[in-house]
Amino acid sequence: MANEQSKRTAALKALEYVKPGMKLGLGTGTTAGFFIEELAKAKIDVTCVPSSNATETLARSLKLKLIDLNTALAAARIGEIPQLDLCVDGADEADKKFNLIKGGGGALTREKVVASASKEFIVIIDDFKWVDKIGKYPLPIEVLPFAQKFVESEIKELGGTPKLREKFTTDNRNIILDVTGLDFSDPLDLEGMLNNIPGVVDNGIFAIRNADMVIMGKGKEFRVFEQ
Ligand code: A5P
Repeated sequence: MANEQSKRTAALKALEYVKPGMKLGLGTGTTAGFFIEELAKAKIDVTCVPSSNATETLARSLKLKLIDLNTALAAARIGEIPQLDLCVDGADEADKKFNLIKGGGGALTREKVVASASKEFIVIIDDFKWVDKIGKYPLPIEVLPFAQKFVESEIKELGGTPKLREKFTTDNRNIILDVTGLDFSDPLDLEGMLNNIPGVVDNGIFAIRNADMVIMGKGKEFRVFEQ
């Protein structure tokens, strides 16, 4: 499939930024999965922090060295800011200001934590996901089950239409609302506004922690965009 080739191309290019000894955040999804496969093949000596149970299972099956985020950050030397060196992840949409929508796979909360805890955040996508303005892709929002109806009505107040993701529970045992109809003219503001609704755990806008670099694959070609 052309799309799959594009994702693999971006994943392979991202491998060039991985150096031995790094603490590396691993994203979730098919593109991140290709990156994880290539990383395992390359046998670079890195310690990885997975952003989901699925990624943990995949990385473990490929014999990558794993550590949880708390342990990784606690291991920082005195005087050093506790951070991972690099996070590599996919996205559902990325715009020219490096804002993202993520969470198609439902792992957005941990993905955002891992990306925010990393010095460098590289996003790998196929060309269909490179857009002028994010917001076409339904925005995934992780919500406490207890707060579902309240959060839904607050989202409607903001002009959004929430749809419960059926038969889906996040790794944190929460639900996902996929939301259309929101105004994305200021993604930074929207990200904060949604997270201020009590009961929202996090939303899939990555504008506060946007990408430092986007690698876009198109077939066997790639383009690298840097802030
Ligand atoms: C997982 O929750 C998501 O944020 C993924 O990173 C995103 O959906 C991209 O997925 P694919 O690489 O499978 O397209």
